[in-house]
Amino acid sequence: MDKVKVALAKGRTAEEAIKMLAMAGVEFMDYNKNSRKLIFTDTTGAVEMILVKSGDVPIYVEKGAADIGVVGKDVLLEEEADVFEVLNLNFGKCRMCVCGRKDFELSFNRKLIVASKYPKIAKNYFDLKGIHCEVIRLNGSVELAPIIGLADVIVDIVESGKTLKENHLEVLQEVSDISARLIVNKVSLKTKSTIIKNIIQKLEEATLKGEPNENR
Ligand code: PRP
Repeated sequence: MDKVKVALAKGRTAEEAIKMLAMAGVEFMDYNKNSRKLIFTDTTGAVEMILVKSGDVPIYVEKGAADIGVVGKDVLLEEEADVFEVLNLNFGKCRMCVCGRKDFELSFNRKLIVASKYPKIAKNYFDLKGIHCEVIRLNGSVELAPIIGLADVIVDIVESGKTLKENHLEVLQEVSDISARLIVNKVSLKTKSTIIKNIIQKLEEATLKGEPNENR
């Protein structure tokens, strides 16, 4: 029988997903978070887990290199992959927000300069609002941009709010709620239907039993 391949976003998402999969009866006994190993097989031999960079999870699943994947909604919105999003796993909860200096007012009268690690999400959001903008793509430390004058505002993840607070910025508008999602390759859902639907059902039960960890 063909194994089901699961792609997990390395780091906190994988940690939580592995706990949730264990609750669903899929256990990876040889997994150790300090290891550099990238492929693991579960105790039944039916499921193989691969650990990839979070931004790559959607493409692995879209192309069928993985049958299912666990990744944040932020990455899904940004990557726009052709996959089925089948379950909200309800961990890794945070918000995608427009943030800026406390006194900044969004205006329709001039071009808005936006810095973000999520250029598509940012552009789509302001296009829908009818606000003309230029998006500057950054790779991290996005909060610096409005402070040093690179951008008017940022579109970024807010979890605890600590990063904003310590940099004297605040949420100006909320774009979307974010949490980890289960995604499935469109062909695999048909060809490996029984085992994949079984995993989805058990993960759904696990999400109802309680979150493995409230925090990301
Ligand atoms: C993320 C995000 C914010 C921060 C929000 O950054 O881009 O900067 O976490 O979390 P908080 O509301 O709990 O402070 P990340 O830690 O990924 O670092 P980065 O600056 O390298 O993107």
